[in-house]
Amino acid sequence: MLSDIHSNLEAMEACLAAAPAHDVVVNLGDIVGYCASPNEVIERSRELGKIFVRGNHDKAACGLMDLKDFNPVAALAAEWTREQLSEENLAWLRALPQGPVQVDSVADVQFVHGSPIDEDEYVVSVRDAVEPIMISSVSVTFFGHTHLQGSFVANSSHLDAFRPAYKTVGQAETVDIPLKSGLRYLVNPGSVGQPRDGDWRAGFAVYDTDARIVTFCRVPYNLKSAQDRIFAARLPQRLGTRLAAGR
Ligand SMILES: [Fe+2]
Repeated sequence: MLSDIHSNLEAMEACLAAAPAHDVVVNLGDIVGYCASPNEVIERSRELGKIFVRGNHDKAACGLMDLKDFNPVAALAAEWTREQLSEENLAWLRALPQGPVQVDSVADVQFVHGSPIDEDEYVVSVRDAVEPIMISSVSVTFFGHTHLQGSFVANSSHLDAFRPAYKTVGQAETVDIPLKSGLRYLVNPGSVGQPRDGDWRAGFAVYDTDARIVTFCRVPYNLKSAQDRIFAARLPQRLGTRLAAGR
């Protein structure tokens, strides 16, 4: 499960190299925007891909969304991305499906970018999670958009937030979350290319559908190379420096 890659090829490659054996790659959107390898990341995503949900930056880059909803730095990056993309990759972005997406091979699960109610909505707090988790017709929803790795879990009367606790700041690590039957979950695999939880490492997750275990993963990647591409492209400096802070 990959989300919010944001044109960061180095982070994407590190996640793919660290991922255990898997049957399918799910991409929760924001494939482009912010970092400097949009064509390469789209091409890699297309090779891997089967299941996709579009993100707001994907829509902005291919003209499906007005840039007035973006902050100035994000809008600049979206315009730069649009200029870089090949016609073929622009057309591919335009054709990405809107969430929620469900697939027959993964029962009782749906995939969205923001929330099941609104593809552009941010689910950050327990309060934000209440309505999406309660109206969902499936027990597990995978979402992205916030760049914050973690999950929400609900029974009929209570909703809690969970963030994986890691032991190091620079090594590859995993945290397992066994899903319990009868509970409902919103799960964010974290952002591959621009984490915002204070941890610079690329984030992703693996879902074992038989054992019903979500494994949150963080992996170090070639940060300097990703930053150098951003600086060389003359994208806003902050888009490079923020990667080191995970903010
Ligand atoms: Fe994003």
